[in-house]
Amino acid sequence: MTPLIVLVGPMGVGKSTVGQLLAERLGAGYRDTDDDIVAAQHRTIAEIFVEEGEAAFRAIEKQAVREALAGYDGVLALGGGAVLDQDTRELLAGQRVVYLSMDVEEAVKRTGLNAARPLLAINPRKQWRELMEARRHLYEEVATAVVATDGRTPEEVTQAALDALELKEA
Ligand code: S3P
Repeated sequence: MTPLIVLVGPMGVGKSTVGQLLAERLGAGYRDTDDDIVAAQHRTIAEIFVEEGEAAFRAIEKQAVREALAGYDGVLALGGGAVLDQDTRELLAGQRVVYLSMDVEEAVKRTGLNAARPLLAINPRKQWRELMEARRHLYEEVATAVVATDGRTPEEVTQAALDALELKEA
C-alpha cells in the first residue's frame, strides 16, 4: 500500500487544507502524520518538544511517517520537518510527492506568532528564513511536483497540484 499523494512543505503552507481538498476531489481519504503522533502519544506536538526536545520528537515522527507511508493509500500530509531525516527522504523517493511552497513574507503572514508551532515562537521572520535555507533543497529533493501557494486560494493550489500530477478526479 502506498499513499495516492504525499504533501510536504513548511508549516502553515496549507498542507492540511489542500490535502483535504485533494482527498475530496480524488474520492480518497486524508491523513496527517502530526495527527497520528498526537493520537498515539496522547499529548500535543508542543508538549513533546517541551518535555523531550526536538530530537525525541523527530524519532517519534520518523516512525509515524514510516508507518503511514507503508500503510495508507489516501492523501498523506507530513509535518514540515519530516524531510530532515535521510531515511524518510529515501522512503519518499518512490512516492508521488507534492511540495507546497511559499515565500518568507507569505509564511510570516500566515503563521505569525503561533505558540502551537514551537519552532516559530521567537522572531518568526528570522526563524523562517533560517528554516527555509536549511530545508528548501530537501523539499525540492523529494518532490515530484512543486506547487507555489503564494497569493493563491486553497482551491487554486489544489487545482494546480492535480494539473501538475495529471491525476484524474473521482
Ligand atoms: C514542524 C512542523 C509541524 C510539526 C512540528 C515541527 C517543523 O508540522 O510537525 O511543530 O519542524 O516544521 P506542520 O508542518 O504540519 O505544521
